[in-house]
Formats: sequence, structure tokens, C-alpha cells
Amino acid sequence: MTIKRLYINTMGCQMNVYDSGQIKNRLAPMGYVPTEKLDEADVIIVNTCSIRDKAEQKAFSFLGRLAPLKKRNPELIVGMGGCVAQQEGKRVLKRMPYVDLVFGTHAISRLPRIIERILETRCRVVDIEISETISPDDFVAGPFAQSNASAFVTIMRGCDNYCTYCIVPYVRGRESSRPMEDIVSEIRHLVSNGIREVTLLGQNVNSYGQKEGFGRFARLLAEVNAIDGLERIRFTTSHPKDFSAELIQCFRQLGKLCHHIHLPVQSGSDQILKRMNRHYTRQHYMDKVKQLKRVCPDIAITSDIIVGFPGETDQDFEDTLTLIKQIGFDGLFAFIYSDRPNAPAARFRDKVDETVKRERLQSVLASQESATLNKNQALVGSIQEILVDGVNNHKTDPNPDEFFESEATSLQWTGRTSTNKIVHFRHGLKQSDDNQRLTGQMLRIMIVEALPHCLLGRQLSSQAPV
Ligand code: SAH
Ligand code: SF4
Ligand code: F3S
Repeated sequence: MTIKRLYINTMGCQMNVYDSGQIKNRLAPMGYVPTEKLDEADVIIVNTCSIRDKAEQKAFSFLGRLAPLKKRNPELIVGMGGCVAQQEGKRVLKRMPYVDLVFGTHAISRLPRIIERILETRCRVVDIEISETISPDDFVAGPFAQSNASAFVTIMRGCDNYCTYCIVPYVRGRESSRPMEDIVSEIRHLVSNGIREVTLLGQNVNSYGQKEGFGRFARLLAEVNAIDGLERIRFTTSHPKDFSAELIQCFRQLGKLCHHIHLPVQSGSDQILKRMNRHYTRQHYMDKVKQLKRVCPDIAITSDIIVGFPGETDQDFEDTLTLIKQIGFDGLFAFIYSDRPNAPAARFRDKVDETVKRERLQSVLASQESATLNKNQALVGSIQEILVDGVNNHKTDPNPDEFFESEATSLQWTGRTSTNKIVHFRHGLKQSDDNQRLTGQMLRIMIVEALPHCLLGRQLSSQAPV
């Protein structure tokens, strides 16, 4: 079999990251090896996100830049997958004349056959068929885990919640869960390949298995907790309306469940929450957080906020700011509301002025920035257990080399606390063999400094990796 090169550009959320791994797993038996170099690729796929207009534009702009490559190499196969592909279907072929293939969020299992067809006939293909339920063939275990020590595992797909601003139900289809034994066996496979942490993925994990009668999410968590060799479990996302007392208890009962929850609140105003079709109130959200903190006092809570939803008044926005202060989030993702095709809010009147939206975003970000730093500073002096994820590549974090100058001969490593905070630390190991040995280890690290987006730590001297 001749080796061919596959380049994937993954945009959007963790679901797409997982799906890109699935695409690699599917195409590996055909001889496709992943590459980071665009110009040596035989197949280029952009796995797209449609959550906001900007994300959609980013997808088309990336495809636009591929024109010269296709001109130089007419054999090159260019494909668009993911949520924009699902949403736009054959319109993409018209808009992008050199795109060979458009495949939706449920078409990944059919990708090998589609690529074969294109290779044989050079036809252009659109596959945006969507199915109500998951079939066992929709997922394949394979060699492509997402990072050195941790991996995403999709446990359900689609969404039935229809928040009025959101495109997801239209591009990911109906909510449907994978059988528990399939999920557990995929995680066992990952663990046997060195994965130590999994993040279970679904748009609303709390309703896992309810339609199908597979058993509840808390039971799935208990099953995953029992997998030997797995150190940590995370999950995302939990919808506040379904965030159950049973799930809250899991934070006490399950030793591997990390002390972090991402619980998107979206707004602090009841009026806006209602128009968003979120089915909970500000008070309900505050109560859930209170219960959670009672069961797990050191839990880190992060959230999503949308500013400038249609009809959001100054008072509504003020309610969001006070909620943010009262809860004291560890981190926040804030977004400017964006009209999405099909989503009902696109037709709501009382659109908020763009300048006002931007100002509101800035206020949220500014108020959270100091809060995040305060949370990080509170950890200075504590000893944290870190899952080592590898050598720090400085891609996303500021380079803390200044701090480490005195120890600059050793490699800088990175890992996360149970509460999902990034920690950089130095370790004496230098050889590549040792890199392998340290990645995936749980180490006890003394936190010595807090920066806005990460912590700096020092390994306790008595420890050596086993
Ligand atoms: N299923 C998850 C969210 C998935 S989308 C949940 O229910 O929490 C991730 C985030 O994008 C959302 O939480 C929301 O804050 C944001 N988002 C979704 N649609 C948006 C839109 N039209 N405009 C701006 N932000 C949006
Ligand atoms: Fe979108 Fe709401 Fe579903 Fe989340 S729960 S994916 S925000 S419709
Ligand atoms: Fe984007 Fe699709 Fe995820 S719209 S956020 S990639 S589900």
C-alpha cells in the first residue's frame, strides 16, 4: 500500500477534535498518514464549526486559501466536513469550485468509500445524510488519541434542547447515546495505549442514555471510574436544567472524577434565560452551584456567557455581571451573540447594537480576568497533583522562562490539576526516553507563582518518575 498524506484542520469544539481523530482512524487503513504540512498533503480536510458567524467565515477563508495548491496539484482532494458542511451542503460546491467533497457530521463512517469513489471517478460528492440513532459502526477505536495523556470520548451526539440562539440541533441532529459497553471498551483501548485521562463528550451529558434506556450518566461515570489504569475522568457539557443531585454526589463518590465542572449559564437574567429557552432560572443555577460546593468544596467552576442576546437590556446585562461576581467562576468563555441560520433568535426583534455588544463583552472579560487571577493566586503555596501532559510548547501560554531562568538547563513541562488549571514546571529529565517516561505520570507539584492563565510550580524533590 502506498503511503498518502492527510492534512486536517480542526476548528470548533471538542466534538470536532474527537471527530478528526475518527477521520484519521477511518482513513489509516487506506494508507493515509497524518501530516502537519499542507503542501505535501494528498487529502486536505477542514473540519468546520458553525456556532457563530465568525467561525463559519473562518472555514470558508481557510478553503479559499487552498486554491493555489489545487491548481498546482489537480490530484489533491479537498474536503469540507463538520457543522458548516452539514449546514451548507451542496451550496459549498457552488461557492468553492475546487472543493471535491462535502461531508456532514454523521458521514464520517462513510468517508473511506467516498474517497475511493472520488479517486476512481473524480466526481464531486456531497453526503449530509443524518440519522436519528447511533449505530455501532459509527465509531472506531484507533491509534489517534488527542494528546499525550488524555483523550476525548464522545458518549452521545446531537442535541434536543433547542436553545433559541443555537445551531447545534440543526447540524448535529437528534440527541442519541452510545451504549455503555461501547464507551467502556473504547476507553479500555485508549488506556492500553497510554491514555490516563478521558473527557466524556456530549452537548448535555446529563441526559445520557435516557431516550435509549441505557442507564443514567451517573452509572456510566461509575463504570468508567472502575477502569484499571485510568487516572482521571472529566466530562462536558452539563446543562444546568438537568444537573442532578445524583451527579453532584458523584463528585464525592468517584475518586477519579476531576474537581472541575463546566456549567454554562449564558445569562444572569431570568427574562433572557426564558427567551433563550434554557429552562432554568438564575436562582436555580445559584442553588445548584451551592449544592455542588457543599459536596466538593474545592471544585472549580467555569461557564459560558452570551452577551447582546436580542432584547438584552442594560439591567439584564447588569444581572449577568452580578451573577458572575456572586458565583466566583474559575474561568469564563464569553461570546457576542451571533444570528445563526434556522435558530429562532435570528428572527427575534430588539437586536442589540454591535458597539454595545462589544462593550458588554469587554466588561465581562475585564471582571473575570481579575477573578481568575485571584483564584490562581489562592493556590500559591499549595501542593497539587498534576497529570503530566508533555513538554510545554509555548503555543498557547506565555513563556514563563523568565521565572525559570535560574533552572534553565532543564526542560519545561506542562500538566493540569484536577481543577483543570495548567501548571508549568521544570524537571531535570532531558533525554527523549525520559520525555516518554514523564508524560502521563501523576506528580505532586508545589505551586510557586500564579499568572492569569496558568500556574508555575516546582516538583517536590523526593519524587522520581516510576
Ligand atoms: N451544549 C453546550 C454548548 C455548546 S455551544 C451547552 O448547552 O452548554 C458552546 C457555547 O457557544 C454555548 O454555551 C454558548 O455560550 C455559545 N453560543 C452558542 N450559540 C451561540 C450564538 N448564536 N452566538 C453566540 N454564542 C453562542
Ligand atoms: Fe446548543 Fe442548547 Fe443544545 Fe447546548 S443545549 S448544544 S446551547 S441547543
Ligand atoms: Fe461548533 Fe459544531 Fe461544536 S457548531 S461548537 S463544532 S458542535
